[in-house]
Amino acid sequence: MLGATGLVGSTILELLATRDFPVAELVLLASERSAGKEVEWNGEALTVRAVSEDSIQGLDLVLSSAGGSVSAEWTPKLVAAGATVVDNTSYWRMHDDVPLVVSEVNPDALAGHNGIIANPNCSTMQMVVALKPLYDAAGIERLVISTYQAVSGTGKAAIDELRAEARAVVGGYDVPAPQVYPHQIAFNALAQAGSFPEGDDHTDEERKLINETRKILGDPGIRVSATCVRVPVETGHSEAVNVETREPLEPERARELLAAAPGVTVIDDPAAGRYPMAIDAAGRDDVFVGRIRRDPGNDRALDIWVVSDNLRKGAATNTVQLGELLIERGLLNRG
Ligand SMILES: NC(=O)c1ccc[n+]([C@@H]2O[C@H](COP(=O)([O-])OP(=O)(O)OC[C@H]3O[C@@H](n4cnc5c(N)ncnc54)[C@H](OP(=O)(O)O)[C@@H]3O)[C@@H](O)[C@H]2O)c1
Repeated sequence: MLGATGLVGSTILELLATRDFPVAELVLLASERSAGKEVEWNGEALTVRAVSEDSIQGLDLVLSSAGGSVSAEWTPKLVAAGATVVDNTSYWRMHDDVPLVVSEVNPDALAGHNGIIANPNCSTMQMVVALKPLYDAAGIERLVISTYQAVSGTGKAAIDELRAEARAVVGGYDVPAPQVYPHQIAFNALAQAGSFPEGDDHTDEERKLINETRKILGDPGIRVSATCVRVPVETGHSEAVNVETREPLEPERARELLAAAPGVTVIDDPAAGRYPMAIDAAGRDDVFVGRIRRDPGNDRALDIWVVSDNLRKGAATNTVQLGELLIERGLLNRG
């Protein structure tokens, strides 16, 4: 594992143990800062090593979550050393020769890999799991998406920032200057998840939702409008998605399709106050869907509410599922 000490990395470690992943030897790699640290895994104390030409030798499968620039540098070296890499960063996702795979949506794309498999962005991942059964039944013409994204999507430092600011507000003392986000996140909502690439009026997070959705569903014709908002939730992204289908699709039929879809749990009884919530999704692997209803302004569109743990299905769970599929299907570089 590369990035073993991070938020995604520690969630992957937990899943490798609980899912009984077939591990002969587990090697934990991170930066020089963590070299020598001990991490408890499955009753063993494992020592973290710094990623280096030496420490990357002899690995069959690398589950990687150490940031884009680390991935740009080390993934080709890992592949040259014989490993198959499942990468969590955005760096490889839109490369033509790198499959971008969600285990319930396009697992067959794994077969075409050249050593690197990209794990999608968290907000795209949970949305496409919910969209796949609707897409298969009625096609998708257009999506209008608003996200409400948790701070853990930005890493450990962002959780610390939210907690420190919240303590200051509640305690009535000065809120520390933000370091991770451009503004205070506690008791606020920022109309900016990600950053604005130069000359673009969309954030990189919004562009990921647009481009990755088309690549995973294999349909470049889908029109996508996205607004990504950061909210003071610790874990669990929520999304309001308006889905315009190509063929008519009744909300009742959509509810049935979603209830039968792998990886999806429908919670949809608004009169009883039941719909998916981030605090319930946190720590679970499923994508939760509710508020399934007709868009009153468009008889070919539905509105749905999609919630999932961004560290689980949005990152670590899918990474581990892809590792399992690569092994089951005999698709590792080193057989
Ligand atoms: N959080 C999410 O919901 C989410 C979802 C999908 C994808 N991702 C992506 O996954 C990646 C990691 O996210 P995270 O939330 O786990 O971040 P994080 O908590 O900040 O952890 C970063 C990890 O990368 C390691 N690292 C940093 N610089 C390194 C270097 N130069 N060489 C080797 N290792 C290095 C860190 O090791 P040290 O402890 O040694 O610094 C740590 O293990 C990011 O690219 C992120 O965009 C995150």
